[in-house]
Amino acid sequence: MAAPILRKFSRTTAIINNHQRSFHLAIKTMGAYDAEFNKAKERLNSLKEDPGNEAKLKIYALFKQATVGKCNVPKPGMMDIVGKYKWNAWNDLGDISQDEAQKQYIELVDTLAGAETKESSGAQSGTDQKFETLAVSCADGIYSITLNRPSKKNAITVQMYEELILALKEAGADSSVVIATVTGAGDYFCSGNDLGNFMNIPQDRMASMAAKFGDLLQRFVSAFIDFPKPLIGLVNGPAVGVSVTVLGLFDAVYASDRASFHTPFSQLGQSPEGCSSYTFPKLMGAAKASEMLLFNKKISAAEAFNRNLVTQVIPDDVFTKETSAKVQAIAKLPKESMSFSKVLIRDAEREKLHSVNKEECRVLVGRWQSNECMTAIMNFFQQKASSKL
Ligand code: COA
Repeated sequence: MAAPILRKFSRTTAIINNHQRSFHLAIKTMGAYDAEFNKAKERLNSLKEDPGNEAKLKIYALFKQATVGKCNVPKPGMMDIVGKYKWNAWNDLGDISQDEAQKQYIELVDTLAGAETKESSGAQSGTDQKFETLAVSCADGIYSITLNRPSKKNAITVQMYEELILALKEAGADSSVVIATVTGAGDYFCSGNDLGNFMNIPQDRMASMAAKFGDLLQRFVSAFIDFPKPLIGLVNGPAVGVSVTVLGLFDAVYASDRASFHTPFSQLGQSPEGCSSYTFPKLMGAAKASEMLLFNKKISAAEAFNRNLVTQVIPDDVFTKETSAKVQAIAKLPKESMSFSKVLIRDAEREKLHSVNKEECRVLVGRWQSNECMTAIMNFFQQKASSKL
């Protein structure tokens, strides 16, 4: 069985290489990252392992965008299945600039090459030291991400947002990874956005900081939308805010019976994110979604299961053991098949989700600068401070 699979892989790699060669000759790139881009092309050719179809499609698309620009050819016909996948991958990049495509291409090749070096040095499993706010490990095809600020109930700081984006990118690009999981350290899954992210910002820098934070949030949610492999939420305890809303983008969510789900946006003068303004009404119906997203209703794990946000509720005393067995079993399923299925399911909505994400972040940038929001956040920290007196 191995030989035909290898033949197919090398043919696909050859397709990518041929494309690179012909465009390299035909087009003189003058991007901001030309030198690194050329080096990345060479690095790609020296990869020893096949990076998998998903990564190869992404490489193909980024290469075309970097060298040609926006997708400018008609969609291939019904029968050209490979051509359609490649066209979709290129077309999905939309209007991103050639410089941005070069940058993403370089990052992707770096990640693939880095993963190979890590594998060959035998450091594939165990905790990854490059993350400070997360505990990340990779073994048996399972990339496990643990939010790791238990003393702050795993509230998400700017650094944690960036590290989560990086971890998802790494897991998506590493060919040894079959699935990824996200859980929390300590008694909470996550208390949402770290409200300190909005504190101590001078008035004259508020607008630019809000815009910057909106951009970060949009990239963060995009990393979930575009994650190419099965993504599993292991909700070990209460979840608040953005840690609840992004669950609508996971492929399965297992919750401890101790977990609760709370999105107190109105209470905080804010508005929904994580595509929940779209996914929640779809999952649970408009009236129940509004109860959570508009009226701050906190729901139990059992209620979240009834509302289709959670796949299964598991008693807390056996949560770790049972979810570990489930995750191990899922990771043994054929990985390419799962990955293709995931992409098919997501592709049906990918564009819509990105536009919802963009709009939610645009509205939030305004909300963060509102009096309602500033007052609510000040109140939270004042109450915390006075409770310690
Ligand atoms: N942002 C910043 N700090 C947070 C936080 C958050 N989202 N959630 C918890 N913390 C901090 C607390 O300030 C406290 O810090 P301290 O020890 O320095 O005082 C520490 O984490 C422990 O939290 P504490 O409030 O003492 O625990 P609790 O069990 O009484 O309450 C929560 C836990 C999550 C219910 C409560 O902290 C809370 O309501 N947090 C805000 C949640 C929120 O609104 N998130 C944003 C949603 S959009």
